[in-house]
Amino acid sequence: MKLQQAEKPLEGEITVPGDKSISHRAVMFGSLADGNTEITHFLPGADCLSTIDCFRKMGIRIDTAPDSPDHVIVHGKGLHGLNAPDSTLDCGNSGTTMRLISGILAGQDFPTELTGDASICRRPMKRIMDPLHRMGACIESENNNGCAPLMIVGHNLHGIHYDTPVASAQVKSCILLAGLYADSPTVVTEPALSRDHTERMLKNFGADLETSGTTVTIRPDPHLEAAKIAVPGDISSAACFIAGAAVVPDSHVTLRHVGTNSTRDGILRVLQDMGGSVTYRNLKASGGEPYADLEIRQLPLHGTVIGGDLIPTLIDELPLIAVMACAAEGETVIRDAAELRVKESDRIDLMVEGLSAMGADITGTEDGMIIHGGKPLHSAMIDTRHDHRAAMAFAIAALIADGGAEITDADCVRISYPGFFDDLASLL
Ligand code: S3P
Repeated sequence: MKLQQAEKPLEGEITVPGDKSISHRAVMFGSLADGNTEITHFLPGADCLSTIDCFRKMGIRIDTAPDSPDHVIVHGKGLHGLNAPDSTLDCGNSGTTMRLISGILAGQDFPTELTGDASICRRPMKRIMDPLHRMGACIESENNNGCAPLMIVGHNLHGIHYDTPVASAQVKSCILLAGLYADSPTVVTEPALSRDHTERMLKNFGADLETSGTTVTIRPDPHLEAAKIAVPGDISSAACFIAGAAVVPDSHVTLRHVGTNSTRDGILRVLQDMGGSVTYRNLKASGGEPYADLEIRQLPLHGTVIGGDLIPTLIDELPLIAVMACAAEGETVIRDAAELRVKESDRIDLMVEGLSAMGADITGTEDGMIIHGGKPLHSAMIDTRHDHRAAMAFAIAALIADGGAEITDADCVRISYPGFFDDLASLL
């Protein structure tokens, strides 16, 4: 697909689609609750549709209407209401689906096979297999390589105290969900706080859970009760236009109802550190999740250093932050972000290759990137390797590249943001 260079400032308002992480969890926890959970502003992206498909296969009725795909009703059957699926569960491209469902399946009294696309079958699953084994579950990698396909045979689980080696909300959530089915409390301690949507939403459904710093404790066998969930806009999707408005001269963009949970808002802090401007308006909260309208005005950017505990709060936004760094004066260093290498693709290699081809001065390191900004970008042909976040980041880079750019498999944006190109076009 040919991507356009911006010929004028980005201007206008966008309501970005619902948060992907929250949409997944609303379907999962709604399935395990008693009663009907109504979800509004659900993200009908391919990843969340994989989650719906998996729970339908386990006997949960989930109503969606073709004319309002962001409105979903989950007819929950309680903590012990899932049925054995009669075929393999297909998680598609979705790490969240696979890792969170594994925690739930570890507590069921039936065996299940989980698989997904080529990308997910390369991603590390040992990080969930180890703690689930320690809880007493039987979970095997069918090819003995620590990756999917996985076979999970549910068991009587024991509560454990697990120190996760990496700050990962998917790993933390997997263990907490298995903890719902354990015989004693389960405790997870992370090296840094990862996104906490599971904790906030499970509490909303009635789970017995408490957080202290980077430690979460969950007590088993709660009665989960259906809830109404209004999903805030996805800050990871809004990030495309935050970055776009930050780099295209004279831009002024407003993003409505964007989730601003402090475990997700790192890009806004980095934007300000780089000299950019964001104004928060209409701050509200729903279901324990804060959201606001964000007004971004372009200002000259300068380089910065991004690392440590900030990384989990912006892990999915780093491809876009790399683009912002290309437009900034001076050096930007991104470190402590080795997790980027095990996302839907190796996002360090992919961004370094693509942005270098566009003329940027960018070097990959083991755990990040070093970018010397201010070099003019130009047109290039870029292979997205089917990575949705990279595809959107290159579309934003194209806005400031002489002659735009061209990317393969632009359609992969449907994973998290099916309407991305239409929304982008509306600002141009
Ligand atoms: C997610 C957590 C993050 C993030 C992913 C969604 C979630 O992964 O990259 O896109 O919904 O829990 P990790 O928790 O593995 O870092």
